[in-house]
Amino acid sequence: MKAAILTGGGDCPGLNAVIRAVVRRGEQLGFQVAGVRNGWRGLVENDLVPLDRNAVSGILRLGGTILGTSRGNPFDREGGIAALQETLRRNGIEAVVAVGSRDTLLVAQRLFEQGYQVVGCPKTIDNDLPGTDYTFGFDTAVTVAAEAIDRLHSTAEAHSRIMVCEVMGGRAGHIALQSGIAGGADVILIPERPVELEEVCNQIKARQARGKRFSIVVVAEGAQVEGAGETASPEVDAYGHPRLGGIGTYLARELEKRTSIETRVTVLGHIQRGGTPTARDRVLATRFGVFAADLVHQKRFGQMAVLRGDQIVSAPLSQVTAEPKQVDPALFETAAIFFG
Ligand code: F6P
Repeated sequence: MKAAILTGGGDCPGLNAVIRAVVRRGEQLGFQVAGVRNGWRGLVENDLVPLDRNAVSGILRLGGTILGTSRGNPFDREGGIAALQETLRRNGIEAVVAVGSRDTLLVAQRLFEQGYQVVGCPKTIDNDLPGTDYTFGFDTAVTVAAEAIDRLHSTAEAHSRIMVCEVMGGRAGHIALQSGIAGGADVILIPERPVELEEVCNQIKARQARGKRFSIVVVAEGAQVEGAGETASPEVDAYGHPRLGGIGTYLARELEKRTSIETRVTVLGHIQRGGTPTARDRVLATRFGVFAADLVHQKRFGQMAVLRGDQIVSAPLSQVTAEPKQVDPALFETAAIFFG
């Protein structure tokens, strides 16, 4: 039996750990694995690469994905599905392991509904996929962001400034919330909790009144801040999502204007997605990959690996919805204890 693995959507630390796990577990279970280049596009364009234990040796700790990724959707391309089907037939591929986030897994579900043998493996630094407690990539992003926030404390205090740190997370504020807690942020702004600028200013002024002459504000790129709507750029990606960014700069300008405190902004951007995965992400990604290979072996198609507590279990791909998993309100309340 021969399977194929693809990595789709935004890259994240841990993808290579999944690839390595699927190939090594597949070998143990007696099936070969071909690598698909650049997500779903590689199946449409018959762009495959053979994978064996030598090909995946030494990639566990590498960031990114040795296969490349893309946000292309085969259903949106003229003849895309027919070409995908021909690639599977021509290469004798009976099953596909789709490693990706919402959009990649929604394609996997549509293919499964059309009779293709597909299993899923959830991936995103945003950790906003319903059905799994965590996705690999998230721990690395939070670790990178928290380290950056730690560094912003010393320079903010030295200059008695407000430092705004913009992190990723367009539809849910998991990275902002957990890195903000870990980094001791004085304000955390997330998409789930729209705020008025006045409220943020009051929190900062309360700190000033207590003699604290600097503040750290962590803001998710998708946070809803009064008046900031115009910062989303007009471009959209291949899945139709707006290119986010700019809210940190907007917020820094407005806070400085309203509080008269010198303010600077740091946008962490893709640093949160680059580089080597943390140990936790390497372990989680490895467990997801082994489980996905087992799903293929057991012919449990239409399923994906998910984390529930500390167990990896299966869940139907149909559970992946367009709506993101929002932050736990109780965790936000915990973070709020330390605001201001
Ligand atoms: O979905 C992961 C993610 O990193 C988001 O947090 C971010 O908004 C988006 O991808 C950035 O996409 P791109 O790498 O295409 O700019």
